[in-house]
Amino acid sequence: MSETISVNLGTRSYDIEVGPGLIPRAAEFIKPRARGSIAIVTDEHVATVHLPVLLEGLRAEGLTAASLVVPAGEASKSFAGLEQLCEGLLDLELDRSSLVIALGGGVVGDLAGFAAGILKRGLAVVQMPTTLLAQVDSSVGGKTGINTRHGKNLIGLFHQPRLVIADISSLSTLPQRQMRAGYAEIVKYGALGDAAFFTWLEEHGPAALSGDQAALSHAVAHSCRMKAAIVARDERESGERALLNLGHTFGHALEAACGFSDQLLHGEAVAIGMVLAFRLSVRLGLAPKSDAERLCRHLTAIGLPTELSALGPQRLDGQAFIQLMSHDKKVHAGALTFVLARSIGDAFTTQSVPTAELLAVLSAD
Ligand code: GLY
Repeated sequence: MSETISVNLGTRSYDIEVGPGLIPRAAEFIKPRARGSIAIVTDEHVATVHLPVLLEGLRAEGLTAASLVVPAGEASKSFAGLEQLCEGLLDLELDRSSLVIALGGGVVGDLAGFAAGILKRGLAVVQMPTTLLAQVDSSVGGKTGINTRHGKNLIGLFHQPRLVIADISSLSTLPQRQMRAGYAEIVKYGALGDAAFFTWLEEHGPAALSGDQAALSHAVAHSCRMKAAIVARDERESGERALLNLGHTFGHALEAACGFSDQLLHGEAVAIGMVLAFRLSVRLGLAPKSDAERLCRHLTAIGLPTELSALGPQRLDGQAFIQLMSHDKKVHAGALTFVLARSIGDAFTTQSVPTAELLAVLSAD
């Protein structure tokens, strides 16, 4: 059983399939969309676990596919990694009727999605996310790209997939810390636009993270549904899509302070970032203190960090923090865009945040 969520983008509309046991059945969804050769891009970890199952399922439906395995880890999202992948895909003599399948986490999805977007001026891509973070965020909405020495995801394009297949069962092999970090992005959806979902997460989130498949499927599907609706209304992030950056401007600065290392995973940085966004909203008299405390309580109950002190020796002074935030690509005409909130479930963007208030929030705790 799977749930189908549609991303309505006119001629570029596509479905997201969410549910358990979907990798072995993937061919069922892929076959109607396959017009030519198929290339699977994955990383060395996923290749040992999920690739044989996917290949077997494709073979059973009469589909053959070549596989390209990239090194696991963020370093693959580089010019060098992109070049290697593009040359590898070109070696396979793919043409405009070919299909690229991105099987893996956010790194594979972003890199393979980007390569597909630029190869022969655009090949179709199917995203098959195998991490929670990728299932609820990066595989949906068409953002692809690589990192440069100037920052993360600064080179890339919007290239919507033809299909997203999120197999909940693939999450059972994910380390708990990765699961919790992905869960922060799920909390984000409740915090930014759906108070009832936030309440549901308070009740069922711990079960979802302890392996309750029904709860996990619901949390992933609901997140995808919310993202699909936002992307359909604002594909290129000229307005509402920026709400998906709740906690991210703060979060990116925190990740940068830790050198984008495993000391602080992206989702962990987003968790602290969301709390800072709510505390700033409270300080500006926009949101009730009880909502910031409630957000903090839920994240803590899940085992996510909520305080700047989690950075330990990497803790920054306020000015250095603001400096790092201003490198974010969400800076427009020199002004930082903040996602703040009126309450849980009601976020909005603003560029008018007095520096003194920001510094006060960054120096408290
Ligand atoms: N990850 C935020 C977005 O896709 O817009």
